[in-house]
Amino acid sequence: MSLNLAALSPDSEPDKYALHDKYLNTQLVKVLRTIGFDRNYVRGVGQYLYDQEGLAYLDLLSGFGTFAVGRNHPRVIAALQHVLQAELPNLVQMDVSLLAGQLAERLVGLMPGMEKVFFCNSGTEAVEAAIKFARAATRRSRILFCEHAFHGLTYGALSLNGDAQYRNGFEPLLPGCNAVPFDDLERLEAELSRGDVAAFIVEPIQGKGVNVPSDAYLPEAARLCQKHGALFVADEIQTGLGRTGRFLAVEHWGVVPDMVLLAKALSGGFVPVGAVATRKWIYDKIFDRMDRAVVHGSTFAKNDMAMAAGMATLDVIEEERLVERAARMGDEIMADLRSFIGRYEFVKEVRGKGLMIGLEFGRPNSMKLKAAWALLEQARKGLFCQLITVPLMKDHHVLSQVAGDGLNVIKLLPPLVIDETDRNWIRRSFEAAIADSQRVPGAVWDLGRTLAGHSLKARAGAA
Ligand SMILES: Cc1ncc(COP(=O)(O)O)c(C=O)c1O
Repeated sequence: MSLNLAALSPDSEPDKYALHDKYLNTQLVKVLRTIGFDRNYVRGVGQYLYDQEGLAYLDLLSGFGTFAVGRNHPRVIAALQHVLQAELPNLVQMDVSLLAGQLAERLVGLMPGMEKVFFCNSGTEAVEAAIKFARAATRRSRILFCEHAFHGLTYGALSLNGDAQYRNGFEPLLPGCNAVPFDDLERLEAELSRGDVAAFIVEPIQGKGVNVPSDAYLPEAARLCQKHGALFVADEIQTGLGRTGRFLAVEHWGVVPDMVLLAKALSGGFVPVGAVATRKWIYDKIFDRMDRAVVHGSTFAKNDMAMAAGMATLDVIEEERLVERAARMGDEIMADLRSFIGRYEFVKEVRGKGLMIGLEFGRPNSMKLKAAWALLEQARKGLFCQLITVPLMKDHHVLSQVAGDGLNVIKLLPPLVIDETDRNWIRRSFEAAIADSQRVPGAVWDLGRTLAGHSLKARAGAA
């Protein structure tokens, strides 16, 4: 069948789940069906998704952080249309493109200390480049990363993944990559002092779990890296471009890294892109002679559509003051969620910065709830969160996610354009879902038993 956009119209939506079940990822289809996330979205505008009945859903997932400026922003669309209509030469390769130069200049202007930019096509590619650049620039081999880190799923980036779940089955990984606990300066210095570390790569706020470090951690980690001759690389692929209420999350702690990695939101939600911003001396170590001018790169990097989407995204972030908005809305939403602590037994902590928020649940105190909690934890750690995310979707049309495998943390990562109406939507829906989870027995715990049954069956099958 050829591309048929008419088939995307609300009245004639083909069964996309059957197609995916048959030709793509059957397990993903199973997951979506099990938790009732198998919706037929037909439109996306700003922070909202719409199904074929025209019902709006509030998107607290943003395509894992891609839609910072919201879906289908008219400013980004106009920039892309402009590029298409201009019949630009694009990707000549033995040439340099104006748009890439302009986007690099903009990015460097926004990130103190950064002087050069390397473009690629995704977050994981930015991480791959950072590994190569760090090794080549320092002539050292080891790369340090944090437990629970997520930097992407290609081999280099996977070798820096802090969760066994992603690594299992794919070994052997890249040699010389070693984990240190997040927020632990002693262990970091013990590794750095061996003198063979090329780089320490860290998410300023970890995506898996929304882990915020103590205030001393990042500044001191950067200082230790410098002292021991290792590069400090900030993976801002999720936290960057205003997400946390600063343009870069490291700004919260006054840190200037040796490299900053960006991707996701820079795409404007349209064209895959990644960027490594770094200091000139590092860049010059990689591209150090004319015969090494193309020693690292990728065919589609710097393509005009990605560069234009990046520029338009930066325009929107600036014009709509999205960094300030993320800070303000984040504070308000976190205050709303914190008001649940003490009122609802399962709610333990709210943490984050800006619009990267984690809501952590934990063991309740009352006997009745304790037993119900234990049943779920035994079946699968972190299952309780599904008793919140599933009703959030089913009853309140809010798309949310668990912050990582085995975690009792729900992550809120909405587009930065959300407003007061959305804030109220979040407060009302979360409160209702959490209040329902305290009713044992009740509909939510029927769901709990069903999900626990699925988990136990899956575990038995895997054994
Ligand atoms: C912090 C971080 N680094 C890297 C990546 C990988 O990016 P991509 O999925 O574009 O390869 C992600 C993706 O979720 C991420 O959150």
